[in-house]
Amino acid sequence: MPHVPFSQFGQKLTARSGILALMDDLGRALTLQPDMRMLGGGNPAAVPEVQQLWRERMQTLLADGKAFDRMLVNYDPPQGNPHFIRALASLLQRTFGWNIREENLAITNGGQSAFFFLFNLLGGPTSDGRHKKILLPLSPEYIGYADQGLEADLFVACRPTITWPEGEARRRFKYAIDFAAVEQTLRTEPIAAIAVSRPTNPTGNVLTDDEVQKLSLLASQSGVPLILDNAYGAPFPNVIYTSATPHYAPHVILTLSLSKLGLPGTRTGIVIAAEPIASAISAMTAIAGLANGTIGQQIVLPLVESGEILDIGPRWLRPFYAEKRQAAETMTREIFTAAGVDWALHVSEGAFFHWLWLRGMSISTIELYERLKARKVLVVPGEYFFFGLPDEWPHSRECLRLNFAQPEHVMREALQIIAEEAANATK
Ligand SMILES: Cc1ncc(COP(=O)(O)O)c(C=O)c1O
Repeated sequence: MPHVPFSQFGQKLTARSGILALMDDLGRALTLQPDMRMLGGGNPAAVPEVQQLWRERMQTLLADGKAFDRMLVNYDPPQGNPHFIRALASLLQRTFGWNIREENLAITNGGQSAFFFLFNLLGGPTSDGRHKKILLPLSPEYIGYADQGLEADLFVACRPTITWPEGEARRRFKYAIDFAAVEQTLRTEPIAAIAVSRPTNPTGNVLTDDEVQKLSLLASQSGVPLILDNAYGAPFPNVIYTSATPHYAPHVILTLSLSKLGLPGTRTGIVIAAEPIASAISAMTAIAGLANGTIGQQIVLPLVESGEILDIGPRWLRPFYAEKRQAAETMTREIFTAAGVDWALHVSEGAFFHWLWLRGMSISTIELYERLKARKVLVVPGEYFFFGLPDEWPHSRECLRLNFAQPEHVMREALQIIAEEAANATK
């Protein structure tokens, strides 16, 4: 094949970003290097009761010929499966009293596709010559958004303030939104939408109800949507260890996913939004992919109809991850203190990551990542999560994202190696 020049679109989506290389590393290690200590990935853990539930649902679908055919032999409308959509709209109305009808829902092939559509639907060049941006009110934010803009510089992010809820000596810190910075950015940049993940990947931060209310008010006063990414949040999967009220309003775009309920292979994302946004997402699905995967929607349908889908998180996922998180925090405290490293952990309020801050390191965490990989520990360097910030922030080179749901011996060995390498890098 002669060299074929790619279009701008092609170049943007095929650029060998650091993140792509990293995801390659993760995927390769997962399949080819069973001895790698995998603290890097975002896969949900294998929670036995939940795995069993999905297996049983699959068997029921197989045993019922009609349901099986409904699942596999037809295209659904681009909006998603009508039964699933009706059941979900009804569940959200009766549980939260939200004014949501079927027209307010659109299914996508995973939350990731939902964000690709939403960010490029709202942000980017407009017919009046402006280049609209997506405002991330709290950086660090989800790595998966970083390269989704078809236009360069789609994101503008704000640094958070750092607080120490139990005093600095306890080494537990928390990011909070710097509202003055957010208001300033709304005034000075052409903002298309505000977007946050709650809980946040990578930090496990959960925006407080007060922060969400304030953001929601700011968004509505500025005439822009507030996108709330609930990949780990409420109403489901609800992997949240603190109290957080789900929020919806006509200018809010809420996204959900079946992935962290243990069904990432089904690629099922859900967008809940005002009708023009939801129908725009359906239109984009039709063009990019005709229709969505049906399997996830059929597997969970009876649980959405009965409302039991809301119980899976609190009943099985939350206790499972909460125990892992506690064990990992205890180990981190013990191992890093013994290694004499200046460390701190972000308070873990949701999701299944620890965000480890290694203060005063002489190398970047990308360099640390390479050293750790050579010792068979995979982590995610923090640098990648700080995209969109207008200026350099040394803190962005001092953090690692660690998946804490690995088996205990893997966690212990990995944390020991990270502590040794961090100690070498701060000498
Ligand atoms: C914050 C956040 N949003 C969205 C996604 C996308 O998930 P999916 O495409 O599997 O629904 C993820 C996946 O890890 C995530 O962590």
